[in-house]
Amino acid sequence: MYVLEMNHVSKSFPGVKALDDVTLKVKSGTVHALMGENGAGKSTLMKCLFGLYSMDEGEIRFNGEPVAINNVKEALSLGISMIHQELHLIPYRSVMENIWLGRFPRIGGAKSPVIDHQAMYERTDQLLKDLNLNSITPNDLLRTLSVSKAQSVEIAKAVSYDSKIIIMDEPSSSLTENEVEHLFSIIRSLRQRGVAIIYISHKMEEILKISDEVTIMRDGHYVGTWEASELTTATIIKRMVGRDLTHRFPSGESNIGKELLRVENYTSPNPRSFKHVSLTLHEGEILGLGGLVGAQRTEVMEAVFGLRLHNEGALYVRGKKVTINNSYDAKKYGMALLTEERRATGIFPVLSVQQSSA
Ligand SMILES: Nc1ncnc2c1ncn2[C@@H]1O[C@H](COP(=O)(O)OP(=O)(O)O)[C@@H](O)[C@H]1O
Ligand SMILES: [Mg+2]
Repeated sequence: MYVLEMNHVSKSFPGVKALDDVTLKVKSGTVHALMGENGAGKSTLMKCLFGLYSMDEGEIRFNGEPVAINNVKEALSLGISMIHQELHLIPYRSVMENIWLGRFPRIGGAKSPVIDHQAMYERTDQLLKDLNLNSITPNDLLRTLSVSKAQSVEIAKAVSYDSKIIIMDEPSSSLTENEVEHLFSIIRSLRQRGVAIIYISHKMEEILKISDEVTIMRDGHYVGTWEASELTTATIIKRMVGRDLTHRFPSGESNIGKELLRVENYTSPNPRSFKHVSLTLHEGEILGLGGLVGAQRTEVMEAVFGLRLHNEGALYVRGKKVTINNSYDAKKYGMALLTEERRATGIFPVLSVQQSSA
């Protein structure tokens, strides 16, 4: 009845016992949430299952049979796929090339050097149709797709391996609410086909909505497994942290001081972008900027930081009118911007920390 059993799994890294006698039992055709605080061992357990790490102790059973998973290829051939938090696709290749990478269909047999683009296109088209991914076509370049669509391609790729178990490690962390709904509809259709999904997330409401069962881990230990319908946000948190949490968020003592930044009537030269935006920020204040997707929140902040044009409006730092035309100006006034897509615009992955922050 279990498609997957992981029993007595232990794994140490130098100085840390990341997993200590952990159990995970997953039924086919269910969504199984794996929960725990940061560092609880969730990703390590999944990497053991996907053949990225080898376990120090323990066994894995697949459909009741003990199996050895020594590398990713073995995991994939058993029907286990993993969708990582950071997507692993190739930006300058098409959707179909990304999906079939390493196993392109060939004209004249597997050893032939001639790639069968027609077959690859048709298989991809069918795969996308089966998953209702109608806004993606096999020839789309990956770099032109949104994060959510790129993730859908990863899921299609997982499905193309005829996976029985799909691991999703924090798949919703960079998605908007609508995109999460879309992800859930894909997950539900996979579940209907008998696929088991292992879903890692910190978002309680999401977990309670999408999962059938929940396994909770704490500090590398197995806490237990429950039906999602038996759990509430409060009971999950209690089991994750091991004590009652009466205050989920620390009480908000704030000491609001003088005005730091004032944006007056900022308007974009682009008529479809922001218009007449004003806001005031004080010392010690956290100012929330709300709005639906597409409301131009990011654009306003980028304009304030000098990354986008505005053709109307004024900016004041500590009451003094200033002009910020680029990020150097913004830095000069003591501003910093943590960007939405940190990999693309926030960091230089090939530079050291020291060079990046200079
Ligand atoms: N490659 C690694 N090398 C050393 N320590 C690691 C490695 N991966 C994870 N850890 C440690 O193992 C513990 C569990 O981490 P992880 O599985 O990433 O937790 P989670 O995914 O639940 O946040 C943490 O203490 C983490 O620092
Ligand atoms: Mg993790």
